[in-house]
Amino acid sequence: MAALATLAASLLLLLLLADVCGAAMYKVGELDAWAPPPSSKPDVYVRWGKSRPFKLGDALFFLYPPSQDDAVQVTAKAFAACDVADPLLTLDDGNSVFNLTAPGRVYFTSSQPGHCRKGQKLSVDVPTADGKFLAPSADDQAALKALSALPPAAAPTEALPSLSDSDDDSADAPRVAGAGSVLLAAATALSVLVFL
Ligand SMILES: *[C@@H]1O[C@H](CO)[C@@H](O)[C@H](O)[C@H]1NC(C)=O
Repeated sequence: MAALATLAASLLLLLLLADVCGAAMYKVGELDAWAPPPSSKPDVYVRWGKSRPFKLGDALFFLYPPSQDDAVQVTAKAFAACDVADPLLTLDDGNSVFNLTAPGRVYFTSSQPGHCRKGQKLSVDVPTADGKFLAPSADDQAALKALSALPPAAAPTEALPSLSDSDDDSADAPRVAGAGSVLLAAATALSVLVFL
């Protein structure tokens, strides 16, 4: 019983340490593979890119069938225009990891015909090591404007939710709650240990 509690406490502390100090790997779109968004949720990557607490050293994980898709890093200008002719970086092995090693905005889309215009585009804002965000450049602002107007064809009648609407907050909440409940569980496990 005591051994079990020790094991549980160690595991919880490990989890806690990983959560607090570790670099996170974020699977782009979570359950959805990296692909053109379904027409029912054309802004899935816009929301996703806004809703995760990215920090310097984290990584993005793009999962997709390599025969059907790829992930290209592009400039803000190319992102706004869906110009995939000359990407900064092409990832096409189907299991692509991109490390967020520099502060600032990074832009991704797919070089497959039509995919960018369907909304398969992701922008992530990476803060500096002390958690500050760089001021967006003019190109960044133009790219973000294009992103908020996305996509022209997929949702003809329905207005897209604005970037700042409250739904975005819900995605932050579980992480905070998660860290809190891990703390609580660790504290509980430790007090059980002390009690025994
Ligand atoms: C990304 O980071 C991981 C873990 O730190 C490292 O193993 C990998 O080589 C890095 N990838 C690139 C492309 O730099």
